[in-house]
Amino acid sequence: MKTIDNIKELKQHLSEERGANKRIGFVPTMGALHDGHISLVHKCVNENDICVVSIFVNPTQFNDKNDLITYPRTLEHDLSLLESAGCDYVFTPDEKEMYPEPDKRFFDFGRVAEVMEGKYRPGHFNGVAQIVSKLFSIVEPGKAYFGEKDFQQIAVIKTMVKQLDQKVEIVPCPILREKDGLALSSRNVRLSPEQRQKAPLIARVLEESTNFANERSVQETIDFVCNSINKEDEMRVEYYEIVDSETLEPVNKWSDSNDPVGCITVYCGEVRLIDNIHYNKAF
Ligand code: PAJ
Repeated sequence: MKTIDNIKELKQHLSEERGANKRIGFVPTMGALHDGHISLVHKCVNENDICVVSIFVNPTQFNDKNDLITYPRTLEHDLSLLESAGCDYVFTPDEKEMYPEPDKRFFDFGRVAEVMEGKYRPGHFNGVAQIVSKLFSIVEPGKAYFGEKDFQQIAVIKTMVKQLDQKVEIVPCPILREKDGLALSSRNVRLSPEQRQKAPLIARVLEESTNFANERSVQETIDFVCNSINKEDEMRVEYYEIVDSETLEPVNKWSDSNDPVGCITVYCGEVRLIDNIHYNKAF
């Protein structure tokens, strides 16, 4: 495994690999890697000849300065996990390398970037698109792997790829969870032991809500989820919305969509956790 922090050098290596007809797969990350990230890396290694992983905590996608400052950074550990997973190239640029000039590009992806995370984290998806579009032009992967944990991010990236006419297939990957259901996240390490005990409630309530969805209206399902979580001390739902998986249009009645997805953000103390669930299995 090669670790490279320089764009020119990485491009040189990858153009040689491409010249040898190697299929290049790519997993963009912000580091602090856990098994969720590594499940993407495994899929990438299996489906390509060359697996590239980037580690870059992208400042332009953080609308909250404190979140950026406290974002966990564990490079040595990340590299050893990637080596064991069979990754070929790790790209670890610094901010000057990725943004020699401030990126002034403003994207308009319409609704998919405006609702939910777009509404509560203004500018977030613009920053994600800035960095991912740059990374795609550097790596030029055939396939790029994204976790369904960040469900809306996938919809935004797919829209971006169409808009910029980039030649990359976006491969969504299932959410990896702890045994107790909590979706793996780099932010979980910030939970106090008490908060960590409470956090699996989110996944539990989402799962439970699918059991009764065929007897309840969409609104009743939303109310059930919000009330069940909000009654717990230190837990506060920021939003819970049930939307169509492709368009992210709101689902008002179950028949509005073939694949309704519930997307949630919950503050557990100061820690912002996201999760989602598909309802199509409920019908
Ligand atoms: P990061 O939060 O590091 O996540 C990198 C990738 O890992 C994302 O595609 C994310 O959805 C996936 N992932 C995280 N937790 C997961 C889990 N429990 N199960 C499955 N996949 C999981 O997402 C970003 O970084 C950034 O926005 C990035 C795309 C790298 C742009 O900066």
